[in-house]
Amino acid sequence: MPHQVLVIVGSLRKEAYSLKVAHALAKAAPASLKLSVETLQGLSFFNQDLEANPPADWLAFRDKIKASDAVIFVTPEYNRSIPGVLRNAIDVASRPPGKSSFLGKPVGIVGNSPGPLGGVSAAMELKRSMSGICGPILGQPEIYLTQVGNSFNEQGEVTNEGFTKVIQQYVEAFAAFVERQKKAMA
Ligand SMILES: Cc1cc2nc3c(=O)[nH]c(=O)nc-3n(C[C@H](O)[C@H](O)[C@H](O)COP(=O)(O)O)c2cc1C
Repeated sequence: MPHQVLVIVGSLRKEAYSLKVAHALAKAAPASLKLSVETLQGLSFFNQDLEANPPADWLAFRDKIKASDAVIFVTPEYNRSIPGVLRNAIDVASRPPGKSSFLGKPVGIVGNSPGPLGGVSAAMELKRSMSGICGPILGQPEIYLTQVGNSFNEQGEVTNEGFTKVIQQYVEAFAAFVERQKKAMA
């Protein structure tokens, strides 16, 4: 049975590069992983007043994470940080206190940007935020995809060979990381 990996996309944009990167990761994944791409469309705002009786969309999102063996975030960078929609999703899934849906899950963080820095600030910010509420975060290799605007064709397929190679290497390293964590926990 392949390990189930939820790939959370930090952009709601229909043509988001982050979404294309997520699909490219799913396509490149080895047989030991099954990647499911999750957009955050329709996830309502976190509001502490609603915690006693959480909305159905929060519960469904938390359940998807809990049912997965691991999580990969694909994040764009907004103002040197993560987009609000992703911030909201993390807050929703981090609750109730001490019962984060991410607890114990191995996590991968993929930064990307049409610019030259590959979303590294967003990825670092995400790593800092996640560190107290999830399992181990893959630290090496890191992945910051730069110039993503030039790397896909109209069908959303990767057109850049270097890019294909880096995505492949990353998802294979993530598969080995998940395997190591599963063995360590057995
Ligand atoms: C509000 C906002 C802030 C942005 N800030 C940054 C930034 O700090 N660094 C960066 O590399 N790109 C920045 N960008 C450009 C995004 O990288 C670009 O819009 C990208 O396509 C968004 O990701 P997506 O294609 O996955 O939706 C920003 C875009 C927006 C809309």
